[in-house]
Amino acid sequence: MPKLERCHIPAGTSYVARAKPMVVSAALGTCVGVALFDTKNRVGGVIHLLLPEPVSSESVLYPEKYATTAMPVFIQSILNEGASHDHLQAVIAGGALVGPLMPQDLSLDIGGRTAEIVQTILKKAGIPIVKSETGGFFTCRLSLNLMNFQTKIEPLFREPPPSADTPEVPSLAEITRAMDRIAPIPQVALKILRLVDEDDYGLDSIAEEVRKDQVICAKTLQLANSALFSRGRRIETLDDALILLGQDLLVQLVVSVSVKGFFHIRGQGYSLCKGGLFHHALGAAQVAAILAAKAEKTSVALAYTAGLLHDIGKVVLDQFITTVYPFFYRNLQDPTKSVMQTEAEIFGIHHAQIGFLLAQRWEFPDSLIQAIRHHHEPENEEVFFELTHILNLADLLITRFHPGLELEQMQGHHLEARLQKIGLSVDQLLQIVDALPPHVFHTSPNSLAEVA
Ligand SMILES: [Fe+2]
Ligand SMILES: [Fe+2]
Repeated sequence: MPKLERCHIPAGTSYVARAKPMVVSAALGTCVGVALFDTKNRVGGVIHLLLPEPVSSESVLYPEKYATTAMPVFIQSILNEGASHDHLQAVIAGGALVGPLMPQDLSLDIGGRTAEIVQTILKKAGIPIVKSETGGFFTCRLSLNLMNFQTKIEPLFREPPPSADTPEVPSLAEITRAMDRIAPIPQVALKILRLVDEDDYGLDSIAEEVRKDQVICAKTLQLANSALFSRGRRIETLDDALILLGQDLLVQLVVSVSVKGFFHIRGQGYSLCKGGLFHHALGAAQVAAILAAKAEKTSVALAYTAGLLHDIGKVVLDQFITTVYPFFYRNLQDPTKSVMQTEAEIFGIHHAQIGFLLAQRWEFPDSLIQAIRHHHEPENEEVFFELTHILNLADLLITRFHPGLELEQMQGHHLEARLQKIGLSVDQLLQIVDALPPHVFHTSPNSLAEVA
């Protein structure tokens, strides 16, 4: 039996092929996934749709993101590959609500509308839907095996093996010792974080810091050449990076590299795939930067940095998750409970509190300390409330539109009021999601090896 290759389909993309030893899958939150296949002619594919329909005039640039524009092309490409119209079958999954149990979610049911459009298009095309699991609050994975054309819809969180043992819950003293074992933040990284916080840095001062540290310099160039940043360009020196990426991207790159070492954690813990926690951080950072630029309330570089560091407390708790995972898993099934509440119940402390303690210990700027501390409840932050609200929204969007990286159940409570705090309205949410550049969703198990 040939080994099955795994192919991950990010939001706004699709994959179509004839029979081969491969499983194609999409990790779905609010997005909708459709598997289309013809078992007789042995052709199939999966599409991962971000939104129901084009949002603005710029949407024409990315027709593959929207159900109305992408579905007809997807069906045609399967037919072009040799499928017969009469034998096509479809399976639909995903379309979860943005925030659990929120009234505005019902009018803003992005996933539900995407699923409805998919159903209408398939019905018009005369393609039967053999299985459909959409809506609800949970993330799932839709997979299609291109050898036997069987589909699977399963929860993204791995189910624990049945165990009669009582899990060993670490004491607060053990958690504190684990915090002590975390290496201090490199001086160069701290210097760069402070420059970014002051918001009057020149690129020269950042580049000077980077040049002082050969490891950071080499890693900056390595990350600059990853798919996430290079977009196909070859970057050999810091000067190349500056010319090709520009000041904003270079600063983001340097900050990412400076703190990346903390995410080198072993075990499965919070990560759902290799490097998942770091990639969740990178995604939240990029979305936070986009929101900061749109809201014009806070520095883009600072929002990026806060996104990168918001879940730093999870690095400490990560090593204890495996032993208490059955508890965790049970709680994850409860849509009214956040990961943070579960952590507090099990460990007596949650990741935002640990992040706050670490940030204080490392003498981070106050803005970052408070944003990390209150990223799940931004209302509790009075001074840096804009940064904290931007961070909270970025975290919510990345967990709903790019799930599958790590364990997180962000809750959409007070969505309207939180958007208002940064001068945005619920009606703009669709535009915000639409404005996220496609590469934000491309940090995937396939691309992780480059930067993990
Ligand atoms: Fe968090
Ligand atoms: Fe997060």
